[in-house]
Amino acid sequence: MKRFLPFSASDESHLFLTSGLALYLPRPMNETKSYSPGLEGVIAAETSLSFLDTEQEEIVIRGYDLLALIRQKGYSDVVGLLLDGELPAPQRRAEIETEMTKAEVPPRVYEILKLLPSQMHAMDRLRTAVSALAGFDPEANSADPASEKNRAPRVIGQIAQIVANLHHIAQGSSPERFSPEYSLAENFLRVLVRRPVSAAEVRAFEQSLIAYSEHELPNSTFAARVVASTLSDMYGALTAAVASLKGPLHGGANEAVMYMLLEAKNSQGLEALIRQKLAKKERIMGFGHRVYMRRMDPRAQLLKEVLQNLVQAAGRGQEYVEMCQVGEDIMRTEKGLYPNLDYYAAPVYYLLGIPIELYTPIFFAARTVGLLAHIIEQHSENRLYRPRVLYKGPRGKKI
Ligand SMILES: CC(C)(COP(=O)(O)OP(=O)(O)OC[C@H]1O[C@@H](n2cnc3c(N)ncnc32)[C@H](O)[C@@H]1OP(=O)(O)O)[C@@H](O)C(=O)NCCC(=O)NCCS
Repeated sequence: MKRFLPFSASDESHLFLTSGLALYLPRPMNETKSYSPGLEGVIAAETSLSFLDTEQEEIVIRGYDLLALIRQKGYSDVVGLLLDGELPAPQRRAEIETEMTKAEVPPRVYEILKLLPSQMHAMDRLRTAVSALAGFDPEANSADPASEKNRAPRVIGQIAQIVANLHHIAQGSSPERFSPEYSLAENFLRVLVRRPVSAAEVRAFEQSLIAYSEHELPNSTFAARVVASTLSDMYGALTAAVASLKGPLHGGANEAVMYMLLEAKNSQGLEALIRQKLAKKERIMGFGHRVYMRRMDPRAQLLKEVLQNLVQAAGRGQEYVEMCQVGEDIMRTEKGLYPNLDYYAAPVYYLLGIPIELYTPIFFAARTVGLLAHIIEQHSENRLYRPRVLYKGPRGKKI
């Protein structure tokens, strides 16, 4: 593992000799050079999981192009790929699918959810449920990577079931279980919408899950790795990631996009709304990205195709394709900004009939596999995260 030191121990100016002892005293870092607000551009982890290659416009997932995985593979293939390092053979794939769909959510976790106020944000309810899951796992406190990998498919299945039932529970309905008869993606959508679903709808939903499954080191994954680096357990790390993902600058953007599209009503309305917001220097949700900032997020391009296919198969929803295009054009012309994945995921979920409050929880459920893979990787070659600050406060005050 490469380690970067903020000062050089061989620097003569740091060497003092005291009573025959050589002491290396760190001189303050060259503050302005080593400080990057928001850690922009800072390499904060070594990983073999994924990489955003903005020059080649490719999202590399364990050597494969994410867009090819979205087009050609199922969600359980990607779960196997992220956990095992290779695309799973049919038997392993079936094993993962069974573990995910047979996973049981402890009834007491659902009881806890029933006790929470129904108006509490869905991500806050999810955060509580993810934390509570630890209480029902005998190996909960283990930070052993082998144990974590074994438990991962079950945890992914449990979290997907919790998310699928989150809205129903808040409405006073009983939770439903997944059935090993269907894939994880089909189960997830069936329980979410509680109606028969078409193959085209299942495929669109599954493609969105793969698109969300892993994306290098966003804030939530970093939060999970930071917690994991203390050798704390995976439930704690996942709970921190839910809290991070809730924010509108991160995962919370997908629900914010849908509220904006609904407020705008149609293409003219969206154009007026975006211009109004830009005039007030407000941010337009679903646009911009720390890594892709002046480029299109490749996942957004693919989800745009998924939206178009879904609209074609369903024979309705063309107005959302048109509206989104209008928004995309204005933002490119006015701000030089491009849509991110959340911009196109929002209308896909809306057309599937999924309650808006669940868009960000679905993002989390899909990303659980990526987060677990990062937690396992962190625990496999751990070094505690402990950065420094650029102190701007006073000194030398007397009591
Ligand atoms: C994702 C995001 C937080 C990245 O931001 P960042 O890397 O910290 O970039 P900054 O906040 O420094 O923004 C750089 C410039 O672009 C502008 N900008 C960035 N995203 C913008 C947006 N969505 N709408 C309007 N302006 C935006 C900023 O106002 C800033 O302009 P300025 O230099 O004139 O002040 C930002 O693009 C954003 O807020 N997007 C909307 C939320 C969203 O969709 N999040 C999901 C991300 S996957």
